[in-house]
Amino acid sequence: MQICRTVSELRSTIDNLKLLGKKIGFVPTMGALHQGHMSLCKEAKMECDVVVVSIFVNPTQFNNPEDLAKYPRTETTDLHHLNAVSCDIVFLPAVEEMYPFPSSIVFSFGNIEQVLEGAFRPGHFSAVATVVSKLFHLVQPHLAYFGQKDLQQYLIIEQLVNQLSFPVILKCCPIVRAESGLALSSRNARIEASLLPDGYKIYQSLVLAKSLVQQGEKTAVVKSKIRQFYNPYSALELEYFEIVERDTLQSIEEIKDNNKIAICVAAYLGNVRLIDNILL
Ligand code: PAF
Repeated sequence: MQICRTVSELRSTIDNLKLLGKKIGFVPTMGALHQGHMSLCKEAKMECDVVVVSIFVNPTQFNNPEDLAKYPRTETTDLHHLNAVSCDIVFLPAVEEMYPFPSSIVFSFGNIEQVLEGAFRPGHFSAVATVVSKLFHLVQPHLAYFGQKDLQQYLIIEQLVNQLSFPVILKCCPIVRAESGLALSSRNARIEASLLPDGYKIYQSLVLAKSLVQQGEKTAVVKSKIRQFYNPYSALELEYFEIVERDTLQSIEEIKDNNKIAICVAAYLGNVRLIDNILL
């Protein structure tokens, strides 16, 4: 496995691969890798000749400095995990390498950016789009793999790719869950063990909401039942729980038979912010 820490190392490696006509699969990450990331790498390995993984904790996409400071950084273990799935190239740039000049580019994605994460994390998706654009320019992947857990991020990157004609095929891979149902996330490492049982309720709330929707309950009723569901779990503070149209992420007041639906949640468990979703 080759480790590139600089843009010039990565560029010459990619140039060689392109000359050899290799199909490049790319998994962008912020490290603290878990089985969710590994599933993306395995998928990329099956579909491509070469798998490139980037590990870069992008400072510009954090709204909360404490969240950035506490974001887990586990380079040695990450490299072990990547070796185990036969990743070919790891791009591990320092902040100065990615941002030799302060970034002044601003992206705007309209309505899809105003809701859910976008409503609570102003500027977040502009920063994600900027770093993903930079990474796509550097890695020049044929395919890029993202997790469904960050559904809004995926849909926004899809817009970025379509609107700027990036020659890359995007793959949205299913959420990987622990046995308890908790969606795997790099942030889970920061959850206090005593709070974990409350964390399991997040997925249970999604499953409950899904079954209520399928029974024909109105969205307002579902949301009120879900708020009641969360009441006993004092460690969990619900930030949003939304029933939305799957492609636009706009709220659905009245569900019609042909609606493609996503149910999305963000909640604090202690001081760790977690997101999850389920598709219908
Ligand atoms: O999903 C992530 O880990 C990050 O948002 C990404 C796509 C690597 C951009 O920094």
